[in-house]
Amino acid sequence: MPSPRDQVTTYQERLAQASPQELLTVFLRDFPGQVTLASSLGAEDQVLTHMLTTLTDAPRVFVLDTGRLHEETYEVLHLSMKKYGIAYELFAPDTQELEKLIREKGPNSFYESVENRKLCCAIRKTHPLKRALADCKAWVTGLRQEQSANRAAVPSVEWDAVHERIKLNPLAHWTNDQVWDYINAHDVPFNYLHKKGYPSIGCAPCTRAIQPGEDFRAGRWWWESDRTTECGLHGKKES
Ligand code: ADX
Ligand code: SF4
Repeated sequence: MPSPRDQVTTYQERLAQASPQELLTVFLRDFPGQVTLASSLGAEDQVLTHMLTTLTDAPRVFVLDTGRLHEETYEVLHLSMKKYGIAYELFAPDTQELEKLIREKGPNSFYESVENRKLCCAIRKTHPLKRALADCKAWVTGLRQEQSANRAAVPSVEWDAVHERIKLNPLAHWTNDQVWDYINAHDVPFNYLHKKGYPSIGCAPCTRAIQPGEDFRAGRWWWESDRTTECGLHGKKES
């Protein structure tokens, strides 16, 4: 039996033309109980959450609750829990790591240097992500090619060498309009910040509204000069 890593190429060929729902159906069947959606409660992830509820009785969805999310994000989490009856898996930062960070550097050290920002993202996001993925074979994300130059080549199925798991990006080829058409057609709960100039929503202190014509992700870590910024959830393995 080929390893999941070897299987990825076969899946890529077989599912090149598949719709997001067809793609999810295949992986839900091939890896029962071991496919989990990473949800930031943003528009794309709300679409995928809805799709999963139509495809399986037991959708697995996790949220990295950094402790610094917007009130509006907690509101959409609450609404979605009620509407879909999903037992969301919440992952919080390790208490000791967080206490040490705040004791030594203060609560808003991320504005002071890229190094501090990466440390905060590691403690609040990437370390909890490892725990979130521990018992799954494939994780699903809302990444889309259109979101940034950095994501322009994101495939719908890939091997995540950092986490040594299959990574599914079923909306990789979707446009923003397709996302919103789906939300409207299926009455999917969404984060109201999306209507206030926030196409991309992360932690409250590190996200701001964008100006017309700006990149989708221009409001994330806007004070940093490197505009290809990612928080580490979707990093590539260093070679
Ligand atoms: S990121 O830089 O924060 O990773 P973005 O907000 O564009 O970028 O999110 C991309 C994808 O990462 C989301 O569609 C979702 O799958 C995952 N993701 C981001 N933030 C979270 C979170 N707090 N909890 C779970 N998944 C998340
Ligand atoms: Fe910390 Fe900001 Fe990263 Fe959230 S986005 S984990 S607050 S640096």
